[in-house]
Amino acid sequence: MNNETLATVYHGIIIHSLDIGNLEFIRNGLLAVHPDGHIAFLERDVGQLVKEHLFIIFSYSQVVTLSEHQFLIPGFIDTHAHAPQYVYAGTGLDLPLLNWLSTYTFPRESAFSSPTYALDVYKRVISRFLRNGTTTCAWFATIHLEATKLLVDVIRANGQRAFVGKVNMDTCGPDYYVEKIDDSVESTRDFIQYVLDSEPDTSKSSNSSNTAKPTRLVTPIITPRFAVSCTAPLLDSLSTLASEHDLPIQSHLSENPSECELVQSLFPHCRDYTSVYDHYKLLTPRTIMAHGIHLSSEEIAILRDRGTGISHCPNSNFALQSGVCDVRRLLNAGVKVGLGTDVAGGYAPSILDAVRQAMTASKACKIQYLARAEERVERDPDYNVLTIPEVFYLATMGGAKLLNLEDVVGNFVPGKEFDALLVDVGVADGPIDVFDHDTTESLFEKFLYLGDERSLRAVWVKGRRVAGSSNSDEF
Ligand code: GUN
Ligand code: FE
Repeated sequence: MNNETLATVYHGIIIHSLDIGNLEFIRNGLLAVHPDGHIAFLERDVGQLVKEHLFIIFSYSQVVTLSEHQFLIPGFIDTHAHAPQYVYAGTGLDLPLLNWLSTYTFPRESAFSSPTYALDVYKRVISRFLRNGTTTCAWFATIHLEATKLLVDVIRANGQRAFVGKVNMDTCGPDYYVEKIDDSVESTRDFIQYVLDSEPDTSKSSNSSNTAKPTRLVTPIITPRFAVSCTAPLLDSLSTLASEHDLPIQSHLSENPSECELVQSLFPHCRDYTSVYDHYKLLTPRTIMAHGIHLSSEEIAILRDRGTGISHCPNSNFALQSGVCDVRRLLNAGVKVGLGTDVAGGYAPSILDAVRQAMTASKACKIQYLARAEERVERDPDYNVLTIPEVFYLATMGGAKLLNLEDVVGNFVPGKEFDALLVDVGVADGPIDVFDHDTTESLFEKFLYLGDERSLRAVWVKGRRVAGSSNSDEF
């Protein structure tokens, strides 16, 4: 029997979210992964006898015993990022949104008319995100059909789970980077067909009886860039395409005050920014809206009622001076929330960074509520900043729920697929120092605040090893 046909059993510390406030630390855990990538079982606190006889009990499996400074966590889920923008990540952060788009973004994105250039960039960005532990990502590409197909090919070759959108924009763009409406709709149709037809349908070949329904690795997602860049007929056509093919939708919402004013002037018949998307039937339970910073209570209620969620992109919200998103307010209202890097509005290709900046954003909210810094903010000394269990939930299960993948990934419930990270906080020359007083809980927290690529010894998607700082199967 070769390794491909063997189940793998991991023994050691396993950490995952059961619910938003419910972070589970399993100390003596056993997690078994079926060769088809599904989690076969998860056992808690196995006894000494089992520990001593693992290799006999699981003689038909590979057994991996983790060290005391290692633990398994679910893979990170990035609910909003722009693959082409990776080329200028970490630069051009001196302008607010609308100027930033016309000065840096559109010129860079227009270069993806060249498939050769696109292929080189897309290989690098996917590899970078996987090394940072992003096992699932909702990607914006560009308006170019061929380059966007190549992004799908690269994602599949590298084994990331992804939603990929060909960007739609038929107005308010520069002459060199705008589409005609018919081309925009036609190429989106072509793109959807390409993605749906080119992934082998694993449901036909799977013969394992104890596993959940197989899922596709790459899903096409309808991607109107934002209300500013789409005419009303284009928004109409895109919502029709989404419902015809039962597809998810992604866009930007209420990111920057000037953008909100512009949307209001372009769509005067709609009460507010959220109502524009609602009017064109783009707010569905499968819609992901990035940012959602400057929303009224009425707008938040619409999102909740439609089942539409928000991708919280704190790095970008600070870097482009867009504002501070009050995630607690969204959560309290029952709106789904996940984390996003929003590369390159956000400069870091890492959900660990999003975790840190989400904590800072939450504290900035609290400071505002304490000081009543602005008239429109009521003083609230009892405002609760995000906790470690909550922010980790947003990085994993919250993202899975936002993408409607909660039955597939996000935690280690048996039957789900094994998208996971093997974290090592004791890695030689790594970013973390371990002291005698440290506990499993404190090491987990240190990883969230101090960890980096070096701390991720292995990264798996659907049970397949796709990245990691360890060069071998010895972790
Ligand atoms: N709004 C419209 N396009 C974009 C983009 O590329 N990035 C961000 N952050 N906001 C946008
Ligand atoms: Fe964005």
